[in-house]
Amino acid sequence: MKTSKQIREEFINFFVQRGHRFVPSSPVVPQDDPTLLFTNAGMNQFKDVFLGIGTRPYKRAVNSQKCIRVSGKHNDLEEVGHDTYHHTFFEMLGNWSFGDYYKKEAIAWAWELLTEVWNLPKDKLWATVYKDDDEAAELWPQVTDLPAERVLIFGEKDNFWEMGETGPCGPCSEIHIDLGPDHCDKQHIEGHQCRVNGDCGRYIELWNLVFIQYNRDESGQLHRLPATHVDTGMGFERIVAVLQKVPSNYDTDLFTPILDEIGKLAGIKYREAAEDQQVAFRVIADHIRMLTFAITDGALPSNEGRGYVLRRILRRAARYARKLSLHEPFIYRLVPVVIEIMGDAFPEIRERRDHVMEVIRSEEENFNKTLDRGIEIFENLVARLQKEGKRIIPGEEAFRLYDTYGFPLDLTRIMAEEKNMSVDEEGFDREMEKQRERARQAGKFTAQFDHVDNWNVLVHCPTNSHFIGYDALEAETQICKFARNNGTYQIVLTETPFYAESGGQVADHGKIIVEDVELEVVDVQKQGEEIVHICKAPQDLKLVHARAVAKVDPAWRLPTMYNHTATHLLHAALRRVLGSHVQQAGSLVTPERLRFDFTHFKKIEPEQLREIENIVNEQIRRNTPLEVVYTSFEKARELGAMALFGEKYGEEVRVIIIDDFSRELCGGTHVKRTGQIGSFLIVQEMSIASGIRRIEAITGPKAVEFAQMNRDIVNHLGQLLNVPPEEIESRVEHLLEQIRETERRLKKLEAGQILGRVEDFVQSA
Ligand code: ALA
Repeated sequence: MKTSKQIREEFINFFVQRGHRFVPSSPVVPQDDPTLLFTNAGMNQFKDVFLGIGTRPYKRAVNSQKCIRVSGKHNDLEEVGHDTYHHTFFEMLGNWSFGDYYKKEAIAWAWELLTEVWNLPKDKLWATVYKDDDEAAELWPQVTDLPAERVLIFGEKDNFWEMGETGPCGPCSEIHIDLGPDHCDKQHIEGHQCRVNGDCGRYIELWNLVFIQYNRDESGQLHRLPATHVDTGMGFERIVAVLQKVPSNYDTDLFTPILDEIGKLAGIKYREAAEDQQVAFRVIADHIRMLTFAITDGALPSNEGRGYVLRRILRRAARYARKLSLHEPFIYRLVPVVIEIMGDAFPEIRERRDHVMEVIRSEEENFNKTLDRGIEIFENLVARLQKEGKRIIPGEEAFRLYDTYGFPLDLTRIMAEEKNMSVDEEGFDREMEKQRERARQAGKFTAQFDHVDNWNVLVHCPTNSHFIGYDALEAETQICKFARNNGTYQIVLTETPFYAESGGQVADHGKIIVEDVELEVVDVQKQGEEIVHICKAPQDLKLVHARAVAKVDPAWRLPTMYNHTATHLLHAALRRVLGSHVQQAGSLVTPERLRFDFTHFKKIEPEQLREIENIVNEQIRRNTPLEVVYTSFEKARELGAMALFGEKYGEEVRVIIIDDFSRELCGGTHVKRTGQIGSFLIVQEMSIASGIRRIEAITGPKAVEFAQMNRDIVNHLGQLLNVPPEEIESRVEHLLEQIRETERRLKKLEAGQILGRVEDFVQSA
């Protein structure tokens, strides 16, 4: 029997021999495509070439790409585990032509590999083509020995391939194999007929040959691309199953070692288990591969976006594990088996083994704590509803399960379905929205700012206020409109040096001076593109003159700038010391201090913290000038600028460059040269959620003050103890020991006295 490793190699060699360059798989977490949560096809890394905006030094490529399909356009999650041929994570074997060969070669080579190298039975293979693609329909019987009657025509749904809502796309031609009637898993469905694209396990798609011709834009329009390309994708797990002549993907050498390991842990054999337990085996085996690869490539479970997908996958696996009576964390123990199977083809999983296991173990532990309790609550709820004759789980209840017990909605849905019930999903969404609103309110720096609409207009306002505060702290300007609400004034200026709260940097404070009245600016917020200054003001103020002077308080803004630039230096230093998995998860920049949250799993050792601190301080001493560049998002990424996941950036972005040490997209205010920061000191490091750490630090005069305060405390202690500072520690230890000893003696003494008194009592009685 051929091993999966051999099959992968044979595919790659076949195309290398035909002039293709082997290109390693790109990470499953896409680096620079905001339209994708996970890499979902081999062509993702070549998207720019298809669109005509990127080039490569080769015209033909081949690889085996790590793919995840659990969200967005290509989403197979519900099928996974229930059938035997859909996966959350899979490998896609692919060959590409970038404006080079086209349909004829793509079809001929695919046929040659399948039927002549791998000897698949020709009479079991079928091809499909897109309804308007006569060329492909004619090519099949011409360049292969597949008879014309086994070339079937389908419409958009089956034979027009698109990467996502937008992006490169085109008609495709697929090759399907008939595995025989035994493989049908839909016999029980009335009216089911086994056929190509008939959705059962008998006819399965092996290979998709896409003829990329168009780009679909955001409005749904197709635009012809400058050149035509070939993009193919073959499901690796499926072809391995076919070539290994086993009944399903789970019976290949890609999965059997994982199933065996699960069996060992559960004390049940996969093949001897009951049907629903077999589903659980498959779900877990599938999901551990997805988790291993996603975490290796930098994803982490969390409550949002990609992290939330991971969390759901892990929880889905953990929940199915209950069917195998596995209640303790065990999923993480499967990681070494995955590495055993795939580590040669993808060495990165071997390198990050400990990290991956640690992330999964701790997530499992957290989930287990709440899951058992949640299942109990769910059961009680269902019993109550059934008694009342209800078949729908109310949205609030589903939300409570989600919010308090970590049940993803689809888990509740699946569990409800098992009881022949459904979930009020709209109600769930409403609750979710309410919670988001609460979070928004709670997270706001000042709660005073409500959307203002009772404006008094003094002079015409530009729709977007002009911010001049990158260069100036003062301006002679005009009030274009103001409003009075809740005892404060809201003021919009034609141009302003005041920075409105955003990107984690707090709003500037200062004054707006009108005539001889000073208004104290206590907050600045954006309302659309307008910058609204929120000011304290005397009761009877009448604003009739537009002319005003705006002054940002330098004692507020300067330290804020030190802290913001220091945040960039810290971010870069963290990546150097801890690794490139470190990513910003949150940030707060105030005049007092900076707070930076980031992805990292372990506690940071004191030596590492010192090293990070030293690196930042060295950058400060270098006194590097900051460079500010305005450019497109793509260019910024080419410059190596770090962007935030899930952040939407406009046409033009601002990049803060500190030599080749740090490059970040950022709209905040910064020092001109790093030396202005003066000094940098970490005051705290801690964990705030699983996989997320927080560092708090201070800079400039605050750091000096902090050091002075500590020095004074130490000196004072030295005087009290009458020893030099370096002996304080041992002196205190000694004193503590003395105290303990004295206490011990005292206790003995007291016990002796009580005994003595008891004797007195006895005698006097
Ligand atoms: N990009 C094509 C697919 O994913 C080959 O099916």
